[in-house]
Amino acid sequence: MTPRMHTSGDTPAQMGLPTPAKSTFRSVLPLLWPEGRRDLRARVVLAFLAMIGAKVFTVYAPFFFRDAVDALTGQDPAVSFVVVPVALVASYGLARVMMIALAQLRDGIFARVGQNAVRVLAITAFRHIHALSLRFHLERRTGGLSRIIERGTKAIEFLLRFSLFSIVPTIIELLLVAGILWWNFDWRYAAVTVVMISIYIGFTYWATEWRTAIRREMNDKDTDANTKAIDSLLNYETVKYFGNEAHEARRYDRAMQGYEDAAIRTSTSLSVLNTGQTLIFTIGLIALMLMAAYGVAAGALSVGEFVMVNAFMIQLSAPLNLLGSVYREIRQALVDMETMFGLIAVPPEVTDRPNAKDLKVNGGAIRFENVSFAYDPARGILKNVSFDVPAGKSVALVGPSGAGKSTISRILYRFYDVQAGTVTIDGQDIAEITQSSLRGAIGIVPQDTVLFNDTIRYNIRYGRPDATEAEIEEAARMAQISDFIARLPKGFDTMVGERGLKLSGGEKQRVAIARTILKNPPILMLDEATSALDSATERDIQAALRQISANRTSLIIAHRLSTVVDADEILVLNHGEIVERGTHAALLARGGMYAEMWNRQQEEAAENSEKGGQSTQAPRLEAADSAHTEY
Ligand SMILES: Nc1ncnc2c1ncn2[C@@H]1O[C@H](COP(=O)(O)OP(=O)(O)O)[C@@H](O)[C@H]1O
Ligand SMILES: [Mg+2]
Repeated sequence: MTPRMHTSGDTPAQMGLPTPAKSTFRSVLPLLWPEGRRDLRARVVLAFLAMIGAKVFTVYAPFFFRDAVDALTGQDPAVSFVVVPVALVASYGLARVMMIALAQLRDGIFARVGQNAVRVLAITAFRHIHALSLRFHLERRTGGLSRIIERGTKAIEFLLRFSLFSIVPTIIELLLVAGILWWNFDWRYAAVTVVMISIYIGFTYWATEWRTAIRREMNDKDTDANTKAIDSLLNYETVKYFGNEAHEARRYDRAMQGYEDAAIRTSTSLSVLNTGQTLIFTIGLIALMLMAAYGVAAGALSVGEFVMVNAFMIQLSAPLNLLGSVYREIRQALVDMETMFGLIAVPPEVTDRPNAKDLKVNGGAIRFENVSFAYDPARGILKNVSFDVPAGKSVALVGPSGAGKSTISRILYRFYDVQAGTVTIDGQDIAEITQSSLRGAIGIVPQDTVLFNDTIRYNIRYGRPDATEAEIEEAARMAQISDFIARLPKGFDTMVGERGLKLSGGEKQRVAIARTILKNPPILMLDEATSALDSATERDIQAALRQISANRTSLIIAHRLSTVVDADEILVLNHGEIVERGTHAALLARGGMYAEMWNRQQEEAAENSEKGGQSTQAPRLEAADSAHTEY
């Protein structure tokens, strides 16, 4: 079984996933009629009624207008009192006010439905992104992802509001006006109106399609510039190390230039669209008014009716004009939503089997059996790896950098599925149990700790959100970080900065250890958990780690061999294969790779102490082991 490989790219659309607009619509409809939300459904109905009401007043207003004009011009002897035009003018005004007021009411009532849809979708997308595999996340661009969600949810709100309350009512108004023209005048008026509006809509459609490609390019360029900026700012320190500010600015500027060009073409094309629309509408309007004027001259129509034709058209021009831009925006919204639904449709690579059971931990014995694994089929990483960590014992994994040690921890945590072999915990295949129960049973202190941009307390508490204050302090004490925290002016309330960058590597590691202590898992996995600590602190913390790993099954990845001499078994990994295994004493006696690494590290340590330097940092294994590996 080969896992699905995603090619890297910033949007799922670029990952070759199907994202048809039709399914986008199908995904949106349930949001308009939310399950189990009677209040929202009532709002939809009320808003719809308000919309109908508004339209009735809209088409009725010109009638009052006509009668008022006719009363004033005295063409209709029945209404030639002064009082009547006043009442008619007042009615006309009232109808106009009602038309606007009802439309506002409609928007107000509907706002909660739209915002609820935004929230539901944002949460769906957010959950889904968290459910996606590590592979996806290593290939993603965070800035790009968050923009996709932001734009996608905004698009939904827009789409719901405008398709319901702009497109539909405009169509209703159009039909009403065409019917009235036919009824009150004759079919030619209706025909001119329908032809003009058809051409108008056709042109709008064509121009908008043409513009969509341009807008899409602008969006891509925008995302591109944004991700470049974020990446550059995340690498602030690296930029300084190499004095590459000018290079970064140039890169960003190039991206912005692309955006600039695309944005200008977008607005130029908008001008083309607007001009064309106005031209088409005005030709239709003039034709109708000429016809009406001819009718008045021939005595077939009253002046009031001439004015009414104009009033209908002018009233229509507003929603029609909007129809153009709304269609444009809807087209855009569909593009944005397509991208977001495409993201939601990306299948998670690692999933629970149907009917997967929870892991039952009974000691937590880990077994790797003939495990082979590759991130990329072209390059195998682990080859036929087999080992056991008996319940309650600790096994150490050592070996040069890039040997595949962290990969073993990722496989145990099921960030990836293996291509061959099995991994079991207490006899249960980890591929057969639920991910949440598996992960709940394992505590990992990762190689590179990243912290939330919040307080130290928040970051430690993350190990178990319901932990008490006392438990947090105890965990901090065990992780040897209380003294450091006590020295901070704000103590546990100190903010750690973005990704925890305000703490040193060693401090971050100790926060990570504290939160794993708090999680209190039956299985412990330390991935070079003390690599960033100096020897003295490491020794202190080693005692704590030994204490917490005492009755737990522990897999300890270490680069400093002195920290694992007590392990029940030591596995030496090289190029994804276990090349030696045994206790410290046995491996030393064997005189192989382990013995060589050990001697080298002892020498380096001795050299360091001879120099009398304060630096007690032991040499990294990878540096000490160049004889055995090429990297
Ligand atoms: N997500 C990944 N995609 C592709 N290759 C990876 C990935 N993560 C690690 N590797 C490669 O796998 C090898 C083993 O990595 P790792 O297990 O992290 O080594 P280490 O023994 O130093 O912990 C390395 O050569 C690394 O380049
Ligand atoms: Mg590693």
